[in-house]
Amino acid sequence: MYVYTFLSIICTLPLALCYGNGKVTGSCGNMIPSHPASSQTSSAPYTVSVNQSSFQGGDTITVTLQGQSTAFRGFLLEAREVGGGQPVGTFSVTDSQAQLLACSGIINSAVSHTSPANKNSVKVLWKAPSSGVSKDIAFSATFVQDKVTFWVQVKSETVKFTGVPSTTTPSLPISFISSAECGNTKVCVSQPSNCNPASSSSCSFISVTAFSTNSTFHVEISGPASGYVATGFSNDQKMGNDDIYICVINGSGVQVQHAHSTGKVMPQILSQGQVSNVQSSVNNGVISCSFTSQNAITTQSRSAASNFTYYLLFASGPASGGSIKFHDNTFSSNQKVDLTNPQFLATSEPSSVKAHGALMLISWMTTGSLGMLIARYLKAATKQHRCCNKDFWFLVSFLFDNDIKILTLTFFFKLMNNISAFQGAHPVLGCIVMILALIQPIGAAFRCAPGNKWRFVFNWGHALNALVIKVLAVAAIFTGLGLIDNTDSRWLQKVMGGFVAWEVLCFLLYELNLRNCLKEKTERTSDSNTTEVVLLGIFFLGNIAFLVALLCGIGMS
Ligand SMILES: *[C@@H]1O[C@H](CO)[C@@H](O)[C@H](O)[C@H]1NC(C)=O
Ligand SMILES: *[C@@H]1O[C@H](CO)[C@@H](O)[C@H](O)[C@H]1NC(C)=O
Ligand SMILES: *[C@@H]1O[C@H](CO)[C@@H](O)[C@H](O)[C@H]1NC(C)=O
Ligand SMILES: *[C@@H]1O[C@H](CO)[C@@H](O)[C@H](O)[C@H]1NC(C)=O
Repeated sequence: MYVYTFLSIICTLPLALCYGNGKVTGSCGNMIPSHPASSQTSSAPYTVSVNQSSFQGGDTITVTLQGQSTAFRGFLLEAREVGGGQPVGTFSVTDSQAQLLACSGIINSAVSHTSPANKNSVKVLWKAPSSGVSKDIAFSATFVQDKVTFWVQVKSETVKFTGVPSTTTPSLPISFISSAECGNTKVCVSQPSNCNPASSSSCSFISVTAFSTNSTFHVEISGPASGYVATGFSNDQKMGNDDIYICVINGSGVQVQHAHSTGKVMPQILSQGQVSNVQSSVNNGVISCSFTSQNAITTQSRSAASNFTYYLLFASGPASGGSIKFHDNTFSSNQKVDLTNPQFLATSEPSSVKAHGALMLISWMTTGSLGMLIARYLKAATKQHRCCNKDFWFLVSFLFDNDIKILTLTFFFKLMNNISAFQGAHPVLGCIVMILALIQPIGAAFRCAPGNKWRFVFNWGHALNALVIKVLAVAAIFTGLGLIDNTDSRWLQKVMGGFVAWEVLCFLLYELNLRNCLKEKTERTSDSNTTEVVLLGIFFLGNIAFLVALLCGIGMS
């Protein structure tokens, strides 16, 4: 025993000393240290981490070798293409614990320790080759804890290759119009907020530079559209009584048209008047045009030709033969501005849209959501086991009743206001949900008596309709939130996603509880009643939290 220990100390010392200086180029290929033992198969107590998950040619990445609970004495680090065996890129070190090695004949392609001292963390930099790499890479390190304990090729996460930066051939800007001078020399408004039409093909953008001295103004309009982009000067945020300029594709070119809208009908095309300096392009589905106009702005309530205080409206849509069709995207500036005072404006949905959104959410996330849950689970529980007392039934009918009223109210409230602010799938989904929601109580009123052999038709229809309403309403809310929140982060929709997950979780909990309830088949005691009420309480509080977050978001947008 003693002899063995003694021998192993004798053996260990020279070996540890031999590679203690880290000159381990002999291990470059398989990264296995030349120690008389085989590598550990357990997961390593060491990690290789990187500060970015993707790279371009020429990028620098910080690589950190770290011991979670135990220190390491030696290491060898290389970067390799995923699936490849050769080191790529070059390292640089500032840490005295690390030194550079030449592996596979490539100078600085690996890093190792400088001494066998214990270390917990080593940071080095890796530079991607500026050409020649075209694959994802991962860092690979061998960690030596002591002579017989080492882990080979511990991998970092895969670092994705995202391309060689195109320094030689800069890609052409999408639009000749840019947001660079916004707030400096021109008034701008865009959707999403603060986007740059020169670099983003989803940026809808208007800018105006106005000179009150000679009532001249220069307009730039750009946006993704199949037929036209247009801007309007308006005294309100709705269509009607606006002075409009349209850049429409006609044949192979873009034409500037001057128009006046009298309401929610096709604008009336005017003579172009004093429009000069027309420039235009169509690139990647983005129509851009700019021009200078000396026309007076034709809205009726203008106080003076030199007064440039308007809302800016944007519209885009299809066209044929140079005449425009109904728009498929619109937005307006959030305030009326003096166009001679350069600034980058925020877009806004008219407040009626926000009010509609807020009311819908309040109704959906409180009564709508709870009503369904109670109807499905507490009802079943009551029937089987008298889990709940009669009071719940009053609550259910009250909630549903109330909900239908609120839905109807908000729907007509919306109808009375400008529907034009709503585009795409949202109004369609909203209408379908509305109609289905009205069918629900009507169907219930005409159902056949409980024992009737056709009763099951009603039961299934009722449940199915409820499910369809649920799914469509969630879709309607998502599309609606998309209209209100047009920031790039789309956080309103993310919060709504969280709410949907929360709701599903609660329904699952209830489903489990119900199963339990059915399984026990015993006379209910008051405690399972309590479970349901507690679950209901938690669910309700969660809903309120999500609701508050969403309402704040709508308020701030
Ligand atoms: C990672 O570190 C390198 C070197 O310090 C640095 O150039 C790079 O910007 C960092 N990346 C990120 C995403 O922070
Ligand atoms: C209007 O005035 C601005 C500066 O005040 C000038 O740059 C512009 O050229 C003028 N336009 C015309 C058509 O006179
Ligand atoms: C311009 O018109 C707005 C209302 O449209 C008015 O509030 C403002 O005082 C006017 N400014 C001038 C300089 O006439
Ligand atoms: C479109 O272009 C054609 C030929 O240039 C012209 O005749 C026609 O009037 C244009 N359409 C409109 C709506 O201006």
